[in-house]
Amino acid sequence: MKKVALLGCGAIGTQISLAIDSEKFPAKLTHVYDGSKDASLRLVEKLKNKPVIVENPHLLSSNQVDIVVEAASQDAVKDVALSVLQNKKDLMIMSVGALLDESIYEILSEACKDFQKTIYLPSGAIAGLDGIKSVQNELENLSITTRKHPRSLKGAKFFENSDINLDSLESETVVFQGNAKEAVSLFPANINVAALLSLSGIGSEQTKVKIVADPNTDKNTHHIEASGTFGKMTFTIENYPDSNNPKTSRLAILSAIETLRKYCSNEIQIGT
Ligand SMILES: NC(=O)c1ccc[n+]([C@@H]2O[C@H](COP(=O)([O-])OP(=O)(O)OC[C@H]3O[C@@H](n4cnc5c(N)ncnc54)[C@H](O)[C@@H]3O)[C@@H](O)[C@H]2O)c1
Repeated sequence: MKKVALLGCGAIGTQISLAIDSEKFPAKLTHVYDGSKDASLRLVEKLKNKPVIVENPHLLSSNQVDIVVEAASQDAVKDVALSVLQNKKDLMIMSVGALLDESIYEILSEACKDFQKTIYLPSGAIAGLDGIKSVQNELENLSITTRKHPRSLKGAKFFENSDINLDSLESETVVFQGNAKEAVSLFPANINVAALLSLSGIGSEQTKVKIVADPNTDKNTHHIEASGTFGKMTFTIENYPDSNNPKTSRLAILSAIETLRKYCSNEIQIGT
């Protein structure tokens, strides 16, 4: 049975923990940490198999666990990812935007080889990464248009220097157009999907991103177009936001649980 440690006890961390607690796959949640002690306590209260709350995030991987699951923030990735690998533990990262910093990507990529450990990046709120990875060397154009209710974009760094008032929008408005690298730094908690797409495809500077705020939608919709010498692919994913965090789509949570279930199970693996 795989032992799992969790960094971040919010919307995603809580649902992953409940999935483990329901014993649908062979895993045990042994240690948790959140910058907010209250968040850790609230989570542990919901679980029948109680994990230990550790006092700092580095103590997650210094314990006897197989994998650390990060569901906290880009800062948390920057702070602990390397030490997890150095402690010879696998790592699953949800705050994927952190990896668009090339120096972080290279350090972690080297550390995976040096310590023979794996970093897992679930597909998150999108689908089709299997196809995009397969045609990576034949891709010429890659773009994603993300449409969300203004409340799902609130708090993003982008709005500190923008005239757009999300509270007064009455119709759909393009708030951002640029590449994935810029999008991830200006919308760090909203556009992890652009980071995932660019890491699977042609890189963050070549991946085009458009973000639309639409007060008349109740979904987080992602439309992806990929074309090149292989042909063309388009994907549209219409997600309902999680009830606890409108920035996070239900599919992002389910894909994290599926990645962990696969990690913990010996079975036939379907898909590329
Ligand atoms: N890959 C994807 O498709 C995808 C989709 C949605 C969200 N995300 C990312 O996953 C992460 C978690 O999302 P969520 O919806 O659970 O968020 P959330 O806000 O509900 O929960 C995050 C929790 O992490 C804690 N936290 C934040 N920074 C921390 C740090 N440095 N150290 C310790 N604890 C810290 C917070 O206190 C909070 O309890 C976010 O970074 C989010 O952007 C990724």
